[in-house]
Amino acid sequence: ESIEKGGFEHFMLKEIYEQPRSILDNMRGRMVAEKDHLMMGGIREFENKFVNADRIIIVACGTSWHAGLVAEYLIEDLARIPVEVEYASEFRYRNPIVNERDIVIAISQSGETADTLAALELAKSKGATIFGICNVVGSSIARATDAGAYTHAGPEIGVASTKAFTAQVTVLTLIAMIIGSKRGTLENSKLRQLMVEMENIPAKVEECLKLDAQIQQIAAVFKDVTNFLYLGRGYNFPVALEGALKLKEISYIHAEGYPAAEMKHGPIALIDAQMPVVVIATKDSSYEKVVSNIQEVRARKGQVIAIVTQGDQVIPSMADYVIEIPETSEQLVPLLSVIPLQLLSYHIAVLRGCNVDQPRNLAKSVTVE
Ligand code: G6P
Repeated sequence: ESIEKGGFEHFMLKEIYEQPRSILDNMRGRMVAEKDHLMMGGIREFENKFVNADRIIIVACGTSWHAGLVAEYLIEDLARIPVEVEYASEFRYRNPIVNERDIVIAISQSGETADTLAALELAKSKGATIFGICNVVGSSIARATDAGAYTHAGPEIGVASTKAFTAQVTVLTLIAMIIGSKRGTLENSKLRQLMVEMENIPAKVEECLKLDAQIQQIAAVFKDVTNFLYLGRGYNFPVALEGALKLKEISYIHAEGYPAAEMKHGPIALIDAQMPVVVIATKDSSYEKVVSNIQEVRARKGQVIAIVTQGDQVIPSMADYVIEIPETSEQLVPLLSVIPLQLLSYHIAVLRGCNVDQPRNLAKSVTVE
């Protein structure tokens, strides 16, 4: 087993460190910016269906559902097709309205999650086209779909999903770009810029991994707290949910992810000097608003751990801890901002003596409902 871990203490850490590679593997053959090449085998056959779809419904569970939420922002932003993201377990039991002009995307690392499989079978029976995004080749969900794309992240052993998430987001980003360009909703100049930025992502993820030692120190400060709040807006809202889920899963600390603006409708009541608040505050269209959210937390003595864009001049004077990540296009930020959150949960769990790779009560793939 220690050989399989490749010198890392846990599979989870190894998998976190594999992300520059797994993201690159997902782009390989699908996108070459300088050649203007952007293509995904799985979509080609269904390109017209995607281009003409009335709506895209995404079904998934857990971390894969968070990747689906990122895709909602991406596809609506770049391809202007309405997207609904559903928990597979809710979708399948609520007599959903689905028809032949809908595309249902099922996202699943294992390809075996019972609820996701049942949700796609239901959508299929109502005539929708089913597209799968799976990591495990030949898995049940991969086999049950009309077409799909693999995430090529390699085997993920740690129960808490890390590299599968960024691989899913990478594939979904490419899909949004492909559909957007075919539909003419994504201008060529913007498409080119995104392609170039995408190619820079693996190196930027590598830079994020260099934050490891700093994040370990922050983890040591907060390892004994009982609650955590994670805030983000726009593309970083799903990342806040994912950061909170990672912490809950492996450290057993209660954590909640929230859209930063919704904080005032509830979670703000919880904020006091004992409450660490992770705020994802990268330079994007909601930056100013997030800065005000940080001030609201500060005013109630909450401890702010801010994830910011390198060179930010404003937030360091407000936040207790600042983690700087490289700049990128707003649409691609989740691929970077999630990395420090994965590392934070990992280090907190290790410092608390938790079984990081096999947390209590959780399974890598849930094949029962
Ligand atoms: C389980 C795992 C999670 C995973 C979820 C969905 O709960 O512990 O890490 O996100 O299932 O799994 P899937 O294989 O469908 O992505």
